[in-house]
Amino acid sequence: MVVNDSLCCDRQMICTFISGGVLVVALLLVDAYTVVRAEMPAGKSLYENNCVVCHGHDGEGAMPGVRSMISNRLWTKQSDQELVAMIINGVESTDGPVSMPPKGGNPALTEEQIHSIVNYLRILVDNN
Ligand code: HEC
Repeated sequence: MVVNDSLCCDRQMICTFISGGVLVVALLLVDAYTVVRAEMPAGKSLYENNCVVCHGHDGEGAMPGVRSMISNRLWTKQSDQELVAMIINGVESTDGPVSMPPKGGNPALTEEQIHSIVNYLRILVDNN
């Protein structure tokens, strides 16, 4: 009986422990989801307004000399900070007549806004 009792108690503790763990994981997921969702609208509309002319809605490139950001993913290896700096400075085209002007040609873009565009670009690439 004593053995049974302590077994029962152990089980209960394990159960409580596991359900607590599940709750923590669920909360973390909700948290991560909220962060992604919060980034989406700002970064997306900024991308649509400033970058789509050359890069296209899907990032595949909308004019000659702008390669696809989806099939060429080398750029994604750079850190957020490096990408933000690159976008601020502009990009020389490697294989076409069009180069990317600093901030895509919109000097009003802030570093924070460019950060959210970078977050959106990572989501765009991950989903394609
Ligand atoms: C006037 C056209 C133009 C605009 C507007 C523009 N880009 Fe670009 N972008 C380019 C060109 C050209 C390249 C170089 C592509 C190449 O070498 O094939 C480039 C490269 C890039 C790269 C590197 C991709 C790679 O394949 O190495 C990123 C990231 C990028 N642009 C982001 C942006 C963002 C974000 C915006 C909006 C703020 C933007 N661009 C606006 C023309 C443009």
